[in-house]
Amino acid sequence: MILLRGFLFLFPSVLVVWGATYSQTDSHTGSGFLKSFSVQAISDPTHGRVNYVDAGTAASQNLTYSSGDHFVLRADSKKVLSASGAGRNSVRLQSNKAYTTSVMVFNIRHMPQGCGTWPAVWTVGANWPYQGEIDILEGVNDQGPNQVTLHTDSGCTMPASRSQTGTAVQNNCDVAATNNAGCGVQITDTRSYGTIFNNKGGGWYAVERTNSFIKVWFWSREATGIPSDVLNGATSVNTDNWGTPRAYFPSTSCPISSKFGPHNIIINLTFCGDWAGSSSVYGASGCPSTCVDYVNNNPAAFTNAYFDFAWLKIYG
Ligand SMILES: *[C@@H]1O[C@H](CO)[C@@H](O)[C@H](O)[C@H]1NC(C)=O
Ligand SMILES: *[C@@H]1O[C@H](CO)[C@@H](O)[C@H](O)[C@H]1NC(C)=O
Repeated sequence: MILLRGFLFLFPSVLVVWGATYSQTDSHTGSGFLKSFSVQAISDPTHGRVNYVDAGTAASQNLTYSSGDHFVLRADSKKVLSASGAGRNSVRLQSNKAYTTSVMVFNIRHMPQGCGTWPAVWTVGANWPYQGEIDILEGVNDQGPNQVTLHTDSGCTMPASRSQTGTAVQNNCDVAATNNAGCGVQITDTRSYGTIFNNKGGGWYAVERTNSFIKVWFWSREATGIPSDVLNGATSVNTDNWGTPRAYFPSTSCPISSKFGPHNIIINLTFCGDWAGSSSVYGASGCPSTCVDYVNNNPAAFTNAYFDFAWLKIYG
């Protein structure tokens, strides 16, 4: 629910227009993440060199860890893997609640880095691609900048010219028409992904989904002019004060309310697989050996393959 949105007539001659003000509905920090997200020990449909473990294993191997306002989710960085055995232990989280129109703000200190890594923070409906997918933070092999991408079925395209600071890679969101690529927008800021994101202390990703648009913003920890409601994780936020988004997906030729259903939030970290491990992508990344060999034989290379979330706040 959007509070105070629309018009309020104080006097017949005075029209007050309120901005897009939302109130906090959920706040996750530290150990709270594991109360509102479930650990999913499933096989990776994108064929990653990963072994998603269950909640008990994740906790006992310290692959999930919380303390104060740190929630850490990591991959194993100790074991050399047998080529014929399971992939590298890692964690996949799915939110217990699903969201439609909302604002989500992720305050992230660190994201997984390393050759072969494929981390993602995204939202998705139960019936893919008919209920849509929004990739907020995703990439492979430390190759920035971040790309924000929508995936839908047919009948969702983006105008070539629109009000965003990022660069559109592709304007058709239909997975069938784009070999699963969807409509991506690259954030024009090297601090938005990987080692540079981490070296700057991470930052904030925010998504606003209404029936008329989906907008994504990113502020590096060291950016200037970060909106105070974002910086402070305020109990209400006004997205009208956040400036031009990095990525803007209007409903002009994409009926957002029918192409996007209720979405769960997913946070996962896989290795290699269809994207990170494809020989052309891995080969062009400057990473050594082959992806699977590297992941199998170099556990210490995954010491920094972790997320550290300060908080996630959701507004409606
Ligand atoms: C678990 O991971 C956290 C975060 O990286 C770290 O601070 C802590 O020392 C680790 N605990 C153990 C027992 O290794
Ligand atoms: C996360 O899981 C989804 C599907 O369940 C998959 O499409 C995606 O590639 C995975 N990504 C990562 C980073 O594991």
